[in-house]
Formats: sequence, structure tokens, C-alpha cells
Amino acid sequence: MNLDHFKTKALQLDKSDALAEFRRLFLFPRHQNRKVIYLTGNSLGLQPITARNALLQELDDWAVHGVEGHFKAKHPWYAYHEMFVAPMSHLIGGLPDEVVVMNGLTTNLHLLMATFYRPNKQRYKILCESKAFPSDRYALETQIRHHGLNVEDTLIEIGPREGEYIVDERDILAAIADHRDQLALVMMGGVNYYTGQVFDIARITRASHDAGALCGWDLAHAVGNIPLKLHGDTVDFAAWCSYKYLNAGPGSVSGVFIHQKHAQNTTLPRLGGWWGHDKTTRFKMEPNFKPMPSAEGWQLSNAPVFAMAPLKASLDIFIQAGGMEPLRRKSIALSAWLREVLAAVAQTTGVQLKVITPSSSERCGAQVSVLVEGISGKSLFDRLSENGVVADWREPNVIRMAPVPLYNNFEDIYRFMEILHDGVLTIKEGKYAE
Ligand SMILES: Cc1ncc(COP(=O)(O)O)c(C=O)c1O
Repeated sequence: MNLDHFKTKALQLDKSDALAEFRRLFLFPRHQNRKVIYLTGNSLGLQPITARNALLQELDDWAVHGVEGHFKAKHPWYAYHEMFVAPMSHLIGGLPDEVVVMNGLTTNLHLLMATFYRPNKQRYKILCESKAFPSDRYALETQIRHHGLNVEDTLIEIGPREGEYIVDERDILAAIADHRDQLALVMMGGVNYYTGQVFDIARITRASHDAGALCGWDLAHAVGNIPLKLHGDTVDFAAWCSYKYLNAGPGSVSGVFIHQKHAQNTTLPRLGGWWGHDKTTRFKMEPNFKPMPSAEGWQLSNAPVFAMAPLKASLDIFIQAGGMEPLRRKSIALSAWLREVLAAVAQTTGVQLKVITPSSSERCGAQVSVLVEGISGKSLFDRLSENGVVADWREPNVIRMAPVPLYNNFEDIYRFMEILHDGVLTIKEGKYAE
């Protein structure tokens, strides 16, 4: 196969890419003296070069000011979390009082369910996707048990139809309608971590409300990846992490959205802590909890500044890039290019590289999940890894890849193509021992 034509095309696409320079703002691991082909931004985003100084600033302020850093640090720690409200609400299409950054993602899912999953005799069921990320399943399962209910009667899981990979949204809507009298909560992932399927947030939320249920979203794979308009879509609540497309570093803090109609309601039951208490009287240290009338009213603890500092650096880059619109444009083009390359390699080698991610740009983000058939998918994945491609392997035979518009370029995908083509042929011809 002559790959020259693909190389020329990749270089042309890079030349006309308005976001090309942003790649330089990130640190790439290296393989044999070259940047790796990093296709796992859906798992852990790359480090912004500005993250180190953002973190050092806080360490320095701690060294210089000690406790007084709460007020004298460059970004005073007592209000540190407030810096994230504007950029985060912009990314997720929320109002400032609907957004807060705190804790880890699964912790926040539990905190949100403490408020928004209040089963009673009539309404107690939760509907979710059957192949949600395991942590979400564990959170739902344990919430149900926490309320003394049993999982089999309470949790309705909707998966792909027999022999399919993608969930047909009509099945979700039908199940919502079927259980409408007992449904308390619909809890979905905005983008499925395995297939990359993007769900129609507005439609599913509307259907949940029509059935008298609340609707919450795990947006771990959606934030910084696809455009979101949570306020307009009347989402009740959502949470996400910041270490994937938001590039804030391993285990970094989670974001939370609570729709204004709930966020302003200080009578809603919740698990409280001093950082959720009315900030004008917080330091009076009085006994009675008075939550703030905003998403901040769900905070428990003062801000983990070191975990948050890289997030600030990363969100500044999103602002510099002009927000989600230009990023999404490039993301669609990069994914289309990756699909073109996969199809060309499959065609010339005769090996099936079946993309299970939906093809419509409405239904997919910056992730392409490929089912390998005809050769060992794991051998192919190993071969890619040995040659500097960082992708993600999922049993039984799926390779997940995420071309991320902030730091991947079209040439990355071309270099991937060379390695893929060579790898497929080598394995097919039996030259590669498993
Ligand atoms: C969709 C989804 N939900 C939940 C989690 C768990 O996140 P955390 O460990 O930050 O709670 C992950 C982690 O990758 C995820 O992808």
C-alpha cells in the first residue's frame, strides 16, 4: 500500500488547522526520541506546560504565607474554587450559580443522589445504561441498598439490542415510559466510555421529566469533548471529572452542575459541610447549617488547592482556544480522518477494523472504538504500543482511541496509520508471536 497520498493529505490538513499551535502547550511522553502518538486523552489528558507553574505558585504561596495564604496567596485559597465557576459553566452551558468544582467524581455522584434520589413507596426505580462505567453502577447499586431496597427490583438497565453495540435511544425512551409510575431517577452517561456513543441529553431529560422522574448525567467523557447546554436542556444534575479531556491531571477534582431550580432551593435535603454554609457567616462557626442558595451549597470541604491548580492552567487553554466551538470543529475533522485511515488499512489488508462508535457527528465525540476481527486484537494493540502508539485496550477485542483537538494533529493519525498497517500485516502473516 502506498501511503504517500495519506501523508500529503495529513500535512495539508495540519497546515490549515487554526488550532495547530495549541499542541505546543502540552507535554508528550516520548518513545524512541519522538513524541508518542497519544490517543488516550479520553482516559488521562496530557499535561499542560503551564500546569507545573500553576502548582508551584501554590507551593510557593504556602511557603511564603503559611496559613495567611488563605487571604494573601496570589489566588487566595479561601475563594480558590470560585475561579472555576466562569470557565466551567461556559464549557457545560450552565449558569454561574449552577456550577461548583469539588471532590472526586464518584463522591459527587453519591452527594447528588443523596439529594436527588429520595425513593418512596410509589417512586423508587432508577433507570441507567447497562454498560455504564463500573463506578456508576457501584454507586447506583449501593445507593439502592442504602435505602433498604433491592437492586433487582429497583435498577432498570438498558443495553444494546442482541448483536449490537450501540444503545438504541428508542429503547431508553420506551423503558422510561413503561416504568413511568415508579421511576424516581434516570441516571445516564453523556458519552459511553466503551463505545463513545453520545446520548441525546435534551431528549432523555425531557422524557424523564414527562414521566415525573429526575434526570442526572455523568459527563466524564463529555466535558471538554462535546458541546453541552445543561441549563437549556433542563438537566437536574450532573457531575464530571477533570482528568480526561480537561487535562487537569490524575485524580483531579470533579465538577458539578445543579439546575438553578434546585440549586437555589436551600430546603432540599443534602449531606452538608462547612464549605456549603452561607459564606457571609461561615467563620462565625455557628451550629446551624445554612446552605448557600447555589451549587456551592453542596460543598463539604475547603478547596484542595494542589489538585485544582493544574485545572486552572488547563481551563485557561480552553479559553485561549475560543471554547468548544472551534475545538469541536477540529475534533470532527480529526475523527473523520482517523476513520478514513482505518477504513483504508482494513480495505488493503482484508482485516476487519470495525468502528463501533456511531458515525453521525451528533452521536459521537473525540473517540473511535474499533472492534478487531480476523486477527488477535490484543496482539495488534501490543504491536501498536511497542511502536509508540498510546491507545486503550478493552476486553474482549476493542481498541479505543481519542484524537483530541487541543493536542493531536492530523500527522499523528498518519503516523498511527503507518504503524497500524505494518502491525496488521505482520500479525496476519504470522510473524508476530502472541
Ligand atoms: C464515566 C466515568 N464515570 C466515573 C468514573 C470514576 O471516576 P472517579 O475515579 O474520578 O470517581 C470514571 C473514571 O474514569 C468514568 O470514566
